[in-house]
Parts: sequence; structure tokens; C-alpha cells
Amino acid sequence: MKKGKKLYEGKAKIIFATSDKNTVIQHFKDDATAFNNQKKANIDGKGILNNRISEHLLKSLSEIGIKNHLIKRLNMREQLVELVNIIPIEFVIRNIATGSLTKRLGIEEGTILDYPLIEYCLKDDKLGDPIISREHILNFKWLNLIELDLINEQCLRINDYLQGLFRGIGIKLVDFKVEFGKTKSNETIILADEISPDTCRLWDQETDKKLDKDRFRKDLGNIVEAYQEVARRLGILHEQSNIRPIKFSKPTAVKIKKSK
Ligand code: TMP
Repeated sequence: MKKGKKLYEGKAKIIFATSDKNTVIQHFKDDATAFNNQKKANIDGKGILNNRISEHLLKSLSEIGIKNHLIKRLNMREQLVELVNIIPIEFVIRNIATGSLTKRLGIEEGTILDYPLIEYCLKDDKLGDPIISREHILNFKWLNLIELDLINEQCLRINDYLQGLFRGIGIKLVDFKVEFGKTKSNETIILADEISPDTCRLWDQETDKKLDKDRFRKDLGNIVEAYQEVARRLGILHEQSNIRPIKFSKPTAVKIKKSK
């Protein structure tokens, strides 16, 4: 597969063309941003960890029938993925109240939600990714009702599966954001982008220590070490890594999956 020209550069990833018009290369950068690009940093090794973690999670999801863009990981920082037209909506699924939900609605931090809450944000940096309703999505024809219901159902299945997967390694899946796209080849809606500690809130089961990008957002330090801890618990990180592991509490059960 030949790597072609840069098609798009986002805050944390770059998309390159390939010799096949239906596939592209997704490159994970070390750049981190928060609060709509107001806070920026380069976090050495983050891209490598997100590449591996997202590969692992998307592969696992495709095993339970959640179609997604991942074809294969190519190297430390890159994946070959199916080219999609990204739907301009961020789908946020929450199990525990934190982040913008607590700020917006005054819900107490840490409240366990009776059932998963799906929120929609318009993907528009200039507008600051505003929260939108189902009615906005339908009215402005960003999706039709069938498509929206299909994506909602997928979001709940993804949440269900990932909650279980993370629970098995002593991590609470607090909330996460996913994006979907329509394939160039036949307009099928599939999961795209990435699922990683950049796009999820992951708390240690016993201590509620943050193992995700909130360490950057809130200046908690040990960002890479936290991402590395997630990868280690997922069984996809070799122990001989040169980054010293941070002392987080032991997971209740560790599911080891040997990396290929
Ligand atoms: P929020 O509480 O800031 O709205 O974030 C909800 C979830 O979505 C959290 O897991 C972080 C993730 N997220 C992204 O992946 N990208 C974003 O741009 C934002 C705002 C949140």
C-alpha cells in the first residue's frame, strides 16, 4: 500500500491518501488539545499508545458485529482505514456524570446515571462543537430518522460492550465520544475515528484515578503513564517499555490478551 499525499490534518491525527481510492492512512500524532484548541501540548508517545489502544478496541468491536473503518494497523503510528465521509456529529455516551454534563446542568460530579445518556454535539470548531438535539439533526438533515436510530442503537451496544471489557480490567468507562461516517464505496454507516483515552473517560475501579485525557485537561500530570496503564491492562503493552509505570491500584481482574 503506497502512502500518498496528506488529505486532512486534525488536532490529533493526519489522514493520508493511498493508492486505493477507498482506503486512507490514519496517522496518530502526539499533539493534544483541550477546550476547543485553547490548550495545547505535545505528549511524547501518546500517538503510539492511542494507535494500539484504538486498534485493540475497534478490532474487539468488529468481533461483535460493530462495523468500523479499521482495516489493519500498519506501524507504530498508522492504521489503514476505510475512507468515509464523517457525519458532522460527535456522539457522547455517558454512564457517570462528569465534565460538561455537570457544568451545563449542575448534576453532581460522579452521579451514576440510571441508564446511559446519549448526547449529540455538532462537529464545528468555529462554533465550539455546540450540543444539539435529535430535532436539530433531523431538521437540518444531518441524518434521517432511520440512520439516527441505527447509530443510537450502535452507541448503546458499543457502550455495553466496552463497559464490560473495561470492567474486566478494573476500569470504569465513565463516558466516551464516537464518530461515524458513510463509506465512499456504498454509503454504509460505520464507526470511524478512534476510541482511546483521548476520547473516553476511564477511571480506576477502586480509586477513581483518571486514566485518560482529563489528566491533561486538568493538569494532573503522568499523562503517558496513565495511557500506558490502560494499554498494559488491556494486555497490549510489553512490559519492557522505557516509560516507568505509575503506581495505580491493581485491577480487580486482569484479562491478558497477547498482542499479535
Ligand atoms: P465532555 O464532558 O467534555 O462533554 O466530554 C464527554 C466525552 O467526550 C469525554 O469522554 C471526552 C470526549 N470528548 C472528545 O473525545 N472530544 C471532544 O472534543 C470533547 C469535548 C469530548
